[in-house]
Amino acid sequence: MSKPKILIVDDEESIRTQMRWALNADYDVLQASNRAEALSTMALEEPAVVLLDLGLPPHTDSSVEGFAALSEMRSRWPMTRVIVITGNDEHDTALDAVSRGAHDFFAKPVEIADLEVILRRNLQMVELERENTRLREEIEAREGTAGRILGTSRPMVELMAMVDKVAQSNAPVLLTGESGTGKELIARALHERSNRARRPFVAINCGAIPENLLESELFGHEKGAFTGAHALNKGKIEYADGGTLLLDEIGEMPLQLQVKLLRFLQERTIERVGGHKPIEVDVRIVSATNIDLQDAITAKTFREDLYFRLNTVQLHLPPLRDRGNDAALIAKAIVARHEEKHGGPRVNLTREALDAISAYEWPGNVRELENRLHRALIVSNGERITPADLELSGREEGPTSLDLRAARERVEREVIVKALEKHNGNVSRASIELGTSRPTLHHLLNKYEITAKEYARR
Ligand SMILES: Nc1ncnc2c1ncn2[C@@H]1O[C@H](COP(=O)(O)OP(=O)(O)OP(=O)(O)O)[C@@H](O)[C@H]1O
Ligand SMILES: [Mg+2]
Repeated sequence: MSKPKILIVDDEESIRTQMRWALNADYDVLQASNRAEALSTMALEEPAVVLLDLGLPPHTDSSVEGFAALSEMRSRWPMTRVIVITGNDEHDTALDAVSRGAHDFFAKPVEIADLEVILRRNLQMVELERENTRLREEIEAREGTAGRILGTSRPMVELMAMVDKVAQSNAPVLLTGESGTGKELIARALHERSNRARRPFVAINCGAIPENLLESELFGHEKGAFTGAHALNKGKIEYADGGTLLLDEIGEMPLQLQVKLLRFLQERTIERVGGHKPIEVDVRIVSATNIDLQDAITAKTFREDLYFRLNTVQLHLPPLRDRGNDAALIAKAIVARHEEKHGGPRVNLTREALDAISAYEWPGNVRELENRLHRALIVSNGERITPADLELSGREEGPTSLDLRAARERVEREVIVKALEKHNGNVSRASIELGTSRPTLHHLLNKYEITAKEYARR
């Protein structure tokens, strides 16, 4: 097992050396003499524990710089334990540091025996927290997206079988499909069902990040690589090491970066912006697009050689309208989840609402379905969700299923509407025309949520 990494931040070299000698046997000891150095070392080495002297240059006789370092460390690496070192008579400062997020403190002069106790205690905490996170992730991975990808339609069952097969390999996967069809969900499933599941899943949206920032987002940058690069920053590719990287909206990637990405895919090494040594990275690449990359290649906005690299396996997400009863199934699941979360009385999707959901084209796919249902759950009467709550007419063209009752009801509704139109919204006359009693017609108007008055000519 490798030794735990600890970082000593102190401007006095003699103190650093003394501690290093004392701790070298049990720990991998790193050193920094000021805030900037400390932060880049943390970015690069990710130590488990930091020993932080608060009196850092340029303010060696106050805690200003030390506190600044503390707060930056706590916000950027919440899992790292920070132990502050204070002067002998600075008990208040020590308490102040703890209230600002330090995990522990001790006073100079440093007693090595005390220090070792404190270090052991904190490393134990790190271990516990890591174990905790690992267990939580394992549980999430097991229940994970697997339970959330709904669909019993043939194209979805076939797709999920492919996902299981492809997940085991390292081959690049290109996910295609309209907006809202579940590309990101499938990308996560590919990760969670692979042997990389315990390593990071990192997603980057190539369309949402300004071109000049995208390169350093992807590849990282060295400290001082450009104005504003105060500290070293790892890129998303490096963060995903051992895991999976999702390049979302890959079609939006600027050509100049496509070249660099291609080089990475060929050589499996990256160079940080402003850096000169290649860094080896092992990531599985999944990319996603809702545009036709073939068109983009023809239009010369996408490189064909990159396309071939990314497209070893292509998985296509069918639009929701081609997934049979899946829309209704997902809708019911959303309502059930809402109940589970908020309690309260049972909410039901009316037969008409389910028909309307089946008949609708869903141009925004599953995301649109989610949005309409969340809205409907708010505006409905809390008992039933009607087509109107979903802002669906309930009378989409043509029968899409072979459900006899639904077909009968659809025709019934249409005939009633025609009769009302003919008789200017007059229920008595419409009921005579339809050969039924007035109360029966009223009952039907209720059932189909037809308002007779709406058919009065203006
Ligand atoms: N089969 C499914 N079962 C349940 N929920 C789904 C399914 N497919 C997608 N969703 C949900 O629909 C929403 C949209 O999915 P996702 O973000 O993966 O789509 P996308 O294809 O990446 O869309 P875009 O191209 O717009 O980025 C998410 O909330 C996702 O959880
Ligand atoms: Mg997406």
